[in-house]
Amino acid sequence: MEIHIVTDAAAGANAVADVFERTVRSAGASGAILGLATGSSPVPAYAELIRRHREEGLSFAGSRAFLLDEYVGLPLGHEQSYHRFIRENFTSSVDIDDAAVLSPDGAADDPAAEAAAYDRRITEAGGIDLQILGIGSNGHIAFNEPGSSLASRTRVIGLTRRTIADNARFFDRAEDVPVRALSQGLGTIREARSIVLTASGEGKAEAVAQLVEGAISARWPATSLQLHPDVTVVIDEAAATRLELADYYRYARFLETENPVVPHS
Ligand code: GLP
Repeated sequence: MEIHIVTDAAAGANAVADVFERTVRSAGASGAILGLATGSSPVPAYAELIRRHREEGLSFAGSRAFLLDEYVGLPLGHEQSYHRFIRENFTSSVDIDDAAVLSPDGAADDPAAEAAAYDRRITEAGGIDLQILGIGSNGHIAFNEPGSSLASRTRVIGLTRRTIADNARFFDRAEDVPVRALSQGLGTIREARSIVLTASGEGKAEAVAQLVEGAISARWPATSLQLHPDVTVVIDEAAATRLELADYYRYARFLETENPVVPHS
């Protein structure tokens, strides 16, 4: 894992946007397959990508996108559906074809069949080039709650009380938060060719410490990313407070970016 500890939100947004930009540019005219996340963490990076699109001509034409997850029971246009969130916060403001922005249908009559079909659609598209992730305070990625199999595929999952409480801020009342979601599985997510995870704030510090330095276990689902060869973690100082080896990650980053001749000076 590559760990970037950044000083502020703008630096984090830039670091994540840089990874996106490289992926989109190297895919060229055929477009990249992007894995998109919702939640507040990726929003500054999306805003930076929108800026680069408007001011620097970064184009998403030809790219396709797959969302990580969706609440069960919310129709596509619901104001808290992830289908709507991603359009409002990112894709409607860049030149990606709206029909190429896919998400599991939370209103499907048979959510389990919808989950399996969605998983197949990702594979049939050739797999995801770059997946962006946030992380829940309990260590979930997408909606893979603690106890998720490290090999899990897209499926219906019941949300923990903690996740419901964390996400209640987006709804008028905590009782309005759906209790189930359709989520790409940990095995599905790890098939992405590269992954960038971003988190900020002290509330994520324990989950980030487990993600980077904890033992791989279903108790902290994000630890499954330790098995992936190309993961970049972009976090602010507050989210880095529980990392035992934070100084080493800063030093390793310094060596990588500055390439000093005498590293000990
Ligand atoms: C939700 C989403 C996750 C997201 C997490 C953290 O549960 N399903 O994909 O990473 O929230 O959200 P936030 O970035 O708002 O803290």
